[in-house]
Amino acid sequence: MVQEFFNISLRDRNSFGIEARAAQLVEFDDTESLRDYLNTHPTGNRRTEVIGGGNNILFTRDFDGVLLHPVGRAFRITGETADAVTVHAEAGLPWDDFVRSCAGHGLWGAENLTAIPGTVGAAPVQNIGAYGAEAADIIESVETLDLHTLKQTVIAGCHCSFGYRDSIFKGVLKGRVVITGVNFRLSRHPRPNLGYGALAQETAALGDPTLEHISEAVRRIRSSKLPDPATLGNAGSFFKNPLVARATAEALQRDYPDMPSYATDSPDLIKIPAGWLIEKAGWKGTTRNRAGVYEHQALILVNRGGATGADIIALAEAVIADVRAKFGIEISPEVNIW
Ligand code: EPU
Repeated sequence: MVQEFFNISLRDRNSFGIEARAAQLVEFDDTESLRDYLNTHPTGNRRTEVIGGGNNILFTRDFDGVLLHPVGRAFRITGETADAVTVHAEAGLPWDDFVRSCAGHGLWGAENLTAIPGTVGAAPVQNIGAYGAEAADIIESVETLDLHTLKQTVIAGCHCSFGYRDSIFKGVLKGRVVITGVNFRLSRHPRPNLGYGALAQETAALGDPTLEHISEAVRRIRSSKLPDPATLGNAGSFFKNPLVARATAEALQRDYPDMPSYATDSPDLIKIPAGWLIEKAGWKGTTRNRAGVYEHQALILVNRGGATGADIIALAEAVIADVRAKFGIEISPEVNIW
C-alpha cells in the first residue's frame, strides 16, 4: 500500500524537531507497491530521497522534491545452519525493535547496537556503530530498488563499501536506490563483544553476561550520555571522529597528554574523539541562539527549543572553525544536511 502527502510538515519526522515542509511524501509498505507507484508516478527530474526515522538529517530549508518513507516492519528468520541464523527485516522496522527481536530469539550480534535511534533501512547507509560494533559486522546483504530502472537488486555486504559511518549508499548509489530490506547474519552461539571500556565495566560483575545483560548495559550507558530526542531535539553524534596523520596526533599528545586516541586499520592514521576536541575548546554545554552543544557529550548538537536548521548550522560552523584554530584539525558533520 502507498499513501501520498503533499506540502506536509516534517517537524515530527526529524529527531532535531526542526520545522520544514516536504512538497511530497510517499509512504510505502512493500517493494511491489513502491515499484507500482513509481511506474505510474515517475519522479522525473525532481529530487527524490528516502527518509527513515529522520534521525540523521538536519533540514535547513523546505524539501522541494519527493520523500519516500518505508513503513514495512516485518522481521523473519529466513535460514539457520550450525553457525549462523539469517534474518530478513523490512526497511521501516525501527532499529531498536530489530535489536529486541534478535535478543528475543536468542540471536547474538546486534546487542551492542541497542537503543540506536533510526530504522533498519537507514542502518546500512551510514553503517551505524557503537561500543565496538557496527552494522556492517552483521549485514549479509541489502535489498534495493533502483529509482530509475525500477529493478530490484540484492547487494552483498562485501560490495557495500562499508567504512566508518560510510557506505556505497552515501557514495555512488546516493539518490539512485531505495533500501527496502536488509538481510542479517546472526548467531545462536554467545559471542559477547566487551572490548569497549564502559561496557566491560558495566558487565564485569555478571560473569558470563547474557544478551539481555549486554543490551541493558548499553541502554544504561547510552541514556546516561545521550539525549532522548523525544525531550531534546538532536541527531546523535553531529560530527564524525576525525582521522589524522600519526605525526599530527603525536604532536598534539605532547601538548595534551590526556587526549584520547584510537588506532585505525591504517598504521598512519589515528582517530581522535571530536567530542574531546570540542569539549577542550570550551563548547560543551554552551548555547547560541536556540542551538546548543549537549552538556554530557560534546559531539551532539541539540535544539534547545524552536531552533531552525540555520541556527544549528551556524553553531556547527563556529565549532568547526574553533577546533581548526585551536588544534589544526578539521572536523566534519556526520549528519546529512538537506
Ligand atoms: N569525550 C570527551 N568529551 C565529550 C565526549 C567525549 O572528552 O564531550 C571523550 C571521552 O571521554 C572518550 C572519548 O571522547 O575518551 C570517546 O567518547 P565516547 O566513548 O562517548 O564515544 P564517541 O567517540 O564520542 C562514538 C560514536 C557514538 C557511539 C560511541 C560509543 C561517532 C561519531 N560517534 O562517540 O555514536 O555511541 O562512540 O561507541 O563515531 C552516533 O553516531 O550518533 C553515536 C552516538
